[in-house]
Amino acid sequence: MTDEIRSAIDFYERHPISAQIILAKLAESRGDVERLAPEDLFAHDQDHYGGLAANDALAERGRIAAGMRIADFCAGLGGPARYLAHRYGVDVTGIELTPARVAGAQDLTRRAGLDNRVRIIEGDVMKVPLPDACMDVVISQEALLHVPDVSRALAEARRILKPGGRMAFTNWVAHRPLSEADAELLWQGMAARRLHSLDAHAGMLRRAGFEVESVEDLTAEWATILQQRLAMYRKLRGEAEQASAPAGHDAFYRSYVRFVDLVGQAALGGGRFAARAV
Ligand SMILES: C[S@@+](CC[C@H](N)C(=O)[O-])C[C@H]1O[C@@H](n2cnc3c(N)ncnc32)[C@H](O)[C@@H]1O
Repeated sequence: MTDEIRSAIDFYERHPISAQIILAKLAESRGDVERLAPEDLFAHDQDHYGGLAANDALAERGRIAAGMRIADFCAGLGGPARYLAHRYGVDVTGIELTPARVAGAQDLTRRAGLDNRVRIIEGDVMKVPLPDACMDVVISQEALLHVPDVSRALAEARRILKPGGRMAFTNWVAHRPLSEADAELLWQGMAARRLHSLDAHAGMLRRAGFEVESVEDLTAEWATILQQRLAMYRKLRGEAEQASAPAGHDAFYRSYVRFVDLVGQAALGGGRFAARAV
């Protein structure tokens, strides 16, 4: 295992949003958490910017329709996978690296009664444990920033897609090179090392065998959302400490504050990409 992969796992093992924290929160407000409706989780299980609307935007760009088979690269706690299955009537396979998140995702999916249509499997998106040409659409949100070789992950997406299938994803982008100090801060605090420009993402998609359909700059939108998330992380950190759960570490908060700053200055930002397998 490379140090980049190890760091991503370490970061998500300590992340302030976990299945344990979500269930503790729901137990407080509603008591029984053995059987949940998918909607009970949606306010808590989406670990990307823009909540459910961001899933709808990818569903639209990926032309997701009932009955399709979808792969979610870097599925986290399975929030987007459950939402797509519930809202669009699709079958979703999430690929997730961090064992604790795979277990958390499976547990939440079972409680939400969606385990017949959503499965989260442990794996690395650079080497996807799925056969060729088995998926209609691949999605991913705010995760490829942790992946050491994004081109390899996109080649894997192309491999598992049926001809004409689509890839729709969001990712951090670098609008200009970072100082060494900022790059080190984001690596140490958030396991983010490989950041690419909007154009570089489009180039990688083409080289992986896709026709690029759209590239959207989400930086201004994210700048606002990130200010709100920063406030949420501060609150969650306090709650994790009270529940004696892993509360993350100071490097994360220092790094997150700087990240929010850099997006505010449009040095970093977000991109949404849609492409068709050709
Ligand atoms: C910010 S979370 C996003 C989760 C999910 N996409 C969502 O929107 O709720 C990033 C996730 O990517 C996973 N991840 C990082 N590197 C990965 C890799 N190489 N393969 C698969 N998953 C990876 C992390 O473990 C983490 O759960």
